[in-house]
Amino acid sequence: MTGSCGVLSTLVLWALCSLQSCQAGAPSSGNGNVGGHLNGTLLFDSPGHGGSHSLRNCSCAAEIQDCDEALANLLCSCRTVPRSTLPPGGLRMQGGGLTVWVREQWVLRELLNGSAVQDLRLSACSHSPFPPAQPIALFGLQRLRLRAAHQGAAHPEQILNIVTATERGRGKGRPSPSSSTAPPFLVSFLDVALLNGLSPLKAYSVSSPPVPSLAQHFPHLPLPPQTDPDAQPQPQQDCLLTFIY
Ligand SMILES: *[C@@H]1O[C@H](CO)[C@@H](O)[C@H](O)[C@H]1NC(C)=O
Ligand SMILES: *[C@@H]1O[C@H](CO)[C@@H](O)[C@H](O)[C@H]1NC(C)=O
Ligand SMILES: *[C@@H]1O[C@H](CO)[C@@H](O)[C@H](O)[C@H]1NC(C)=O
Repeated sequence: MTGSCGVLSTLVLWALCSLQSCQAGAPSSGNGNVGGHLNGTLLFDSPGHGGSHSLRNCSCAAEIQDCDEALANLLCSCRTVPRSTLPPGGLRMQGGGLTVWVREQWVLRELLNGSAVQDLRLSACSHSPFPPAQPIALFGLQRLRLRAAHQGAAHPEQILNIVTATERGRGKGRPSPSSSTAPPFLVSFLDVALLNGLSPLKAYSVSSPPVPSLAQHFPHLPLPPQTDPDAQPQPQQDCLLTFIY
């Protein structure tokens, strides 16, 4: 299913092929209150440590309840990173989970937008809702967990797994004819209003031609900058675009 396809007019067809690529749902396990990846990275903007001017960067060996900064400061190894030193959209997480507690919008816009992260947990910690905004772009995203600030929200916790056709074929034990091709380069667009927990998470994926021709046809699509070798797909690597809204 991940053949190469150079013509953009086939996008719609590919969309039909790829409709099954996402598996969204509510979490099935009962540990909804416990946030954070064990031994993963935890980032949050902290009123106690400079608020909108800095970020706390923690490594936690224990699971920390979402938005409990006092506990994070106590149980994790944390340091303060000045906002001015953060490269915009420059997070490059090679394996390992990333948890981000979001109080202020800049964390989404400046820190996350354009970042490469495989396993992301985003928790809203502000009690005022997130206003409608442009979506943020994430590269390489395979697993997303969103947690709303209000326990009483209609959809307090939502999960999305992005499964590529190559992986699906492997799981079924019958390799598809194209199983030798590289897995696609993953690009996701996330509507951050989902963090309000008011609507069920929906997603669809579209297989697309490799990034260079994609950028040609959609010049304003936030694709990885050419200057960033870490986040660059191979020139001939197909893309899988996932819209999460
Ligand atoms: C987390 O790190 C600690 C100390 O480095 C280690 O003992 C523990 O096994 C790790 N836990 C996981 C789940 O990786
Ligand atoms: C957080 O700290 C880790 C470990 O020191 C480092 O590798 C990473 O780049 C830091 N991230 C940010 C956003 O400062
Ligand atoms: C994310 O970045 C893209 C372009 O780099 C921009 O169009 C979009 O508005 C940004 N999203 C937010 C929420 O700032």
